[in-house]
Amino acid sequence: MASPTSILSLLLLLLLLLLVTAAVSAAAAIRIYPREHVVRAEGDPRCESWKFAVEVNAAGSWKTVPRPCIEFVREYFNGHRYLSDSRAVANYSLTFANSVKVGKDHGRDAWVFDVDETLLSNLPYYRANGFGSKPFNDTSFNEWVNTGSAPPLPMSLRLYKKLKSLGFKIFLLTGRGESQRVVTQQNLLQAGYSGWEKLILRGPYDEGKKATVYKSEKRAELVKQGYIIQGNSGDQWSDLMGFALAKRSFKLPNSMYYIP
Ligand SMILES: *[C@@H]1O[C@H](CO)[C@@H](O)[C@H](O)[C@H]1NC(C)=O
Ligand SMILES: *[C@@H]1O[C@H](CO)[C@@H](O)[C@H](O)[C@H]1NC(C)=O
Ligand SMILES: [Mg+2]
Repeated sequence: MASPTSILSLLLLLLLLLLVTAAVSAAAAIRIYPREHVVRAEGDPRCESWKFAVEVNAAGSWKTVPRPCIEFVREYFNGHRYLSDSRAVANYSLTFANSVKVGKDHGRDAWVFDVDETLLSNLPYYRANGFGSKPFNDTSFNEWVNTGSAPPLPMSLRLYKKLKSLGFKIFLLTGRGESQRVVTQQNLLQAGYSGWEKLILRGPYDEGKKATVYKSEKRAELVKQGYIIQGNSGDQWSDLMGFALAKRSFKLPNSMYYIP
C-alpha cells in the first residue's frame, strides 16, 4: 500500500504539471496576440460595431464609410488587422479544402474566387482616394484597373497555390467587364496567380445585372457543366449569396465599399 508521503508527492507533481501547462498556454496566447496589437485593435467601439454590422451584412447596402470611421478604416487597412483577418479566413478555407476528397469526383471539384479585394488588392487606389470616404468613381477606378498594377493579397495567393496543388479547378469570377480581360489577366499573372481554369467577366448580356444575379448565373453554368463548387471566396456578400451556392463560402474583410 502507498505511504501518505508518496501520495502527497504524487499530488505535488500533478500540481506542478498543471502549473507548467497553464504557463505554456498563457505564453502561447501572448505570442498570438501581442499586447500593443490588442490595444490598437480596440479602436473606437462605435466604428468596431459599424464594421461588424457591415461584415455580417446586417448593415445591408451602404455608399460611403461614415465620416467618424474614416480614420478607423484607414488604420485597419494600413495596420496588421487586415492581414491578420485575411489570414484567419484563408486558414479556415484551407482547413475545409483539406477535408474535401479531391479527385473522387473526376476532377470536378471547383473553387470560385472573386478578383478585386479577394485575389488582387486595390489598396494603392483607395489609399490615394480616401479609403471609401467618397462615393465610388467609375472613371478613376477604371483608370487604376487599366494600369494592371494591383498587388496580390498575400494570404489569398498562398491559399490559391495550395488549392491548386490539392487539385481544385479554379474559376475566377469578377464584376469587371470583358473590355478589361487582357489587363486583368496580365495583372493576375504578374501578381503570381496562374493555372486557373477560366476567368469569367461581365459580358454584354450581363450588363445592368446586380452582382448577386450575375455571379449566381455564372456559378449555375458551372454546376450545369458538372462542376461541384466546393468553395467560394469573396470580399462581398454579392459574391457569395444568391443561388448555385458553394458548399462553403468564405467572406473576406472589406469595410471600404459595398457592392449590392
Ligand atoms: C494560419 O496558419 C498559419 C500556418 O499554418 C499559422 O502560422 C497561423 O498562426 C494561422 N493563423 C491564424 C490566425 O489562424
Ligand atoms: C472621378 O474621377 C475622374 C478621373 O480621375 C475625375 O476627373 C472626376 O472629377 C471624378 N468624379 C468625381 C465625382 O469625383
Ligand atoms: Mg471583390
